[in-house]
Amino acid sequence: MATEHIFIFDTTLRDGEQVPGCKLATPQKIEIALQLEALGVDIIEAGFPISSPGDFNSVVEISKVIKNARICALSRAVDADIKRAAEALVYAKHPRIHTGIGTSQSHIQHKLRSTQDKILERAIHAVKYAKKFVEDIEFYAEDAGRTDNEYLARVCEAVIKAGATVLNIPDTTGYCLPEEYGAKIAFLRDNVKGIENVVLSTHCHNDLGLATANSIAGIQHGARQIECTINGVGERAGNTSLEEVVMIMRQHPYLNLDSKVNSKLLNQTSRLVSESMGMPVQPNKAIVGANAFAHSSGIHQDGVIKRRDTYEIIDPKEVGVDTSKIVLTARSGRAALAYRFKNIGHNLSKVELDIAYAQFVQVADVKKEVNDEDLEEILKREQITA
Ligand code: KIV
Ligand code: ZN
Repeated sequence: MATEHIFIFDTTLRDGEQVPGCKLATPQKIEIALQLEALGVDIIEAGFPISSPGDFNSVVEISKVIKNARICALSRAVDADIKRAAEALVYAKHPRIHTGIGTSQSHIQHKLRSTQDKILERAIHAVKYAKKFVEDIEFYAEDAGRTDNEYLARVCEAVIKAGATVLNIPDTTGYCLPEEYGAKIAFLRDNVKGIENVVLSTHCHNDLGLATANSIAGIQHGARQIECTINGVGERAGNTSLEEVVMIMRQHPYLNLDSKVNSKLLNQTSRLVSESMGMPVQPNKAIVGANAFAHSSGIHQDGVIKRRDTYEIIDPKEVGVDTSKIVLTARSGRAALAYRFKNIGHNLSKVELDIAYAQFVQVADVKKEVNDEDLEEILKREQITA
């Protein structure tokens, strides 16, 4: 079975930048956009042009420098928004307008104070209007995760007829379970006329920690685009993490789904986004966290030193990390200690190692982590000259 391409739609610069305190200036956005292009993402959502002159300007400037990736600009289903998005995209080689409206009962009744029929009309109008400016129109059904599937299917069918090329099914509130979200995508795939002519897209938020699982369920049931951000940054608990979905597809080749992301640039891209936004990455974050390839317990260290894949499913080099780390703590064993001594040029005999180990556990009980200087100090104190 041939591997199918999954489009990676990066929204770090739009949904990701909605994190309070993480606002980026235009030059920072350009630098990140260029890095995303080098990384190999298919679509860069560059901003929400009507929201501010600065965001408008960022979309213009990003459009000028990006050559291969598609540039997407967000709008509500409002003519002025759509026109502004189109104006911001004039220099884009491959422009896309992303427009849409809330479709759940909660959004229709409480936020939009409207009815299902009126929302359907607005959705159709927005897509037709956007189509006057560019060919590639992505429609989002906001809060699709909590939208009744029959109504969602009606909206999808109508916007396809109006000219949408991509249908985004956001789990805006991060509510769905993976099985539920996968079933929603499957329902649309099986019940919407014309669905075979458009790309179905996942856009999952992480309020219950399920964004990645939901996105994967989506592509297993027919979605062919994932919307995600570097480091999973985004509103509230964040968006689907780009590095996670990319590496899940790579680690499970039997899914026959893959992106064209150059995974060796993931770590570098993660650091750029983290530093630009002033948003540290949690140490235990999958793939790009400082501890993602660090081993501190004796049992694990012994295994990894003998053969890396006993405790690591990803070769750190595959994601741009030089090497796995053997961290010395009070939980470490002799194998790790010998390994670390060897790394700094000391090949200890068994007897010497026993002496050094007795000292090491005392130091480790006091310090959180034992470093190379501590090891040299132990050798000096015990007069070991190996
Ligand atoms: O989460 C969401 O529904 C969104 C849309 C604007 C696409 O970000
Ligand atoms: Zn979102």
